[in-house]
Amino acid sequence: MGLEIEQVASVELSIIAVSETHGEDSPYFAGWKAYDKDPYDEFANPSGVIQMGLAENQVSFDLLEEYLEQHPEASVWSNGAPGFRENALFQDYHGIKSFREAMASFMEQIRGGRAKFDPDRIVLTAGATAANEVLTFILANPGDALLVPTPYYPGFDRDLRWRTGVKIVPIHCHSSNNFQITPQALEAAYKEAEVMNTKVRGVLITNPSNPLGATIQRSVLEDMLDFVTRKNIHLVSDEIYSGSVFSSSEFISVAEILQERQYKNAERVHIVYSLSKDLGLPGFRVGTIYSYNDKVVTKARRMSSFTLISSQTQHLLATMLSDKKFTENYIKANRERLKKRYQMIIDGLRSAGIECLKGNAGLFCWMNLSPLLEKSTREGELELWNAIVHEVKLNISPGSSCHCSEPGWFRVCYANMSEKTLEIALERIRNFMAQMQRTN
Ligand SMILES: Cc1ncc(COP(=O)(O)O)c(C=O)c1O
Repeated sequence: MGLEIEQVASVELSIIAVSETHGEDSPYFAGWKAYDKDPYDEFANPSGVIQMGLAENQVSFDLLEEYLEQHPEASVWSNGAPGFRENALFQDYHGIKSFREAMASFMEQIRGGRAKFDPDRIVLTAGATAANEVLTFILANPGDALLVPTPYYPGFDRDLRWRTGVKIVPIHCHSSNNFQITPQALEAAYKEAEVMNTKVRGVLITNPSNPLGATIQRSVLEDMLDFVTRKNIHLVSDEIYSGSVFSSSEFISVAEILQERQYKNAERVHIVYSLSKDLGLPGFRVGTIYSYNDKVVTKARRMSSFTLISSQTQHLLATMLSDKKFTENYIKANRERLKKRYQMIIDGLRSAGIECLKGNAGLFCWMNLSPLLEKSTREGELELWNAIVHEVKLNISPGSSCHCSEPGWFRVCYANMSEKTLEIALERIRNFMAQMQRTN
């Protein structure tokens, strides 16, 4: 901190503020710190750490920039005072109607028109982070649990647990069936919560999965819907990567299945979405809760007043997403570019002797380095991770930070850098593997 103030008095802070459940000490965040201290730069710091721990999509920025250049009306108050006033004056928590309509239509488009979304069920939030927390506040009481399949996005420890006081009970998934969720694993997690005397309020899935980079099969979704109905609990489907599936037909949203079932038992289902990944706009903080439950929509809207999106951002995106020609072209080009990147990293890793889980979506691959572990334990995995961050100078995320139950898996992001930087990262991995082979 710039201004050093002597911290002598032990003035107490709240239990939530000092709680460890934020998960800040996880290697997921530690790797970011290593990157921040010594960031790679082609010219200024070519031996620095390459950031491969950040699920950011920079592959289609040129398309967004081109749109904004051609459509200055989206981001400039060209009409003068009325435009400025519309943005500056009080905003109610329903959000701007034209933006909710544009979001609903964009969500339909991503799903190939196979699911319908009602703009009046769209609740706007500042990113999926807030959407997941708001939903957790609404669905569960402190001490209750959500079942979450492992491996899962490390941020969930913060978003679902920290301020809500809700617990996460893992649904353990394994490499033997490509980490797909089974009815047995669901039942086992539910039983585990019962043994702990913890009330299960719902299941939260991420489809396509972060960190697996793969979509969930239709039969698994069907089983899951049957499971939550049988147990009379909720299902939250975080579909933040739904537009980043390499081919639209490979993604099945829970929204499609509900539509096919004529919305029977739909009131327990809630979808989370955001523009942070598919449009690559995490800095804009634009997310949404889409709930089939009227009460949840009302309560979430009320709670969203703590986490609104600025009017200026909503106006800009309402204009951009209402332009069907632009969105169609963007979705198609973005999918193709992500697929190309994926192929590039998979081929590069394979040539270094490394296998990954077969993926079809997202901004990362799920890499298996278990053959390199000296000890097949969490400690063994973290030793290897330490060497990769500090010696190979690549910040990747260890599977243990995603609560993976098998040591040796790592998430590697590939869409937050140029192809040239990715080549350099792959070269470093190839050299590391060759060195490992020489020493073994
Ligand atoms: C599965 C998942 N949910 C939520 C988020 C948070 O996204 P946002 O930037 O919209 O808050 C992320 C970001 O990595 C994510 O991967």
